[in-house]
Amino acid sequence: DRKIRIAPSILSADFANFGQEIQAIEAQGADWVHVDVMDGHFVPNLTFGPPAVKAFRPHVKSFMDVHLMIAPVDPYIDAYAEAGADMITAHVEAGPHPHRTLQAIRATGKKAGIALNPGTPLEAVDYLLDLADMVLVMTVNPGFGGQKFIHNQVDKVARLRAMIGDRPIHIQVDGGIDPTTAPLVAKAGADVLVAGSAVFKGGSVQDPQVYGENIRAI
Ligand code: DX5
Ligand code: ZN
Repeated sequence: DRKIRIAPSILSADFANFGQEIQAIEAQGADWVHVDVMDGHFVPNLTFGPPAVKAFRPHVKSFMDVHLMIAPVDPYIDAYAEAGADMITAHVEAGPHPHRTLQAIRATGKKAGIALNPGTPLEAVDYLLDLADMVLVMTVNPGFGGQKFIHNQVDKVARLRAMIGDRPIHIQVDGGIDPTTAPLVAKAGADVLVAGSAVFKGGSVQDPQVYGENIRAI
């Protein structure tokens, strides 16, 4: 049986309190901490640069999973590695050379992930799998938390699981994951579930048990 990991996205945390928010979700059972980096170009929103990621680092005791929604991506890989990411995920759509991008991530010594937008066919990662520790199947169009899950991506996850075979590669899903959609993607073969609004809704650093209830419900 595959172990399912929950990776809360701090995009839905209180932006004035990241240190405490990270400590709260870890104390409440988060397996990884997912950091959404957006550039206002590859996606229509702006979030965290390397100095912010570096400030999160000392608070993360588990595993910091940095999802780069930026283009170009290659010029920034070393900066996010030095900021303390444990895994760096780049989008296959971020440029013409995703193979080189994965080589560059691997060269930093960090784990490497490759992400697919909902409209991108699975075949785009076929020849990249030998350089990847994880494939991220986006289940919304990236840019914002709180969007509706795109159901046809469940089939993509199932076909990706078959394509990976017995290679040790995680399948991550991100976007619209909640207690209703999580079982669908887990059954299809995803093992790292990112969730933003479904983890943080109703809770706060003053009331962190809500995060625990939300995580267990997923
Ligand atoms: C979307 C981000 C997600 C997002 C998920 O661009 O990559 O990580 O925060 O948020 P929810 O779980 O609210 O859909
Ligand atoms: Zn993400």
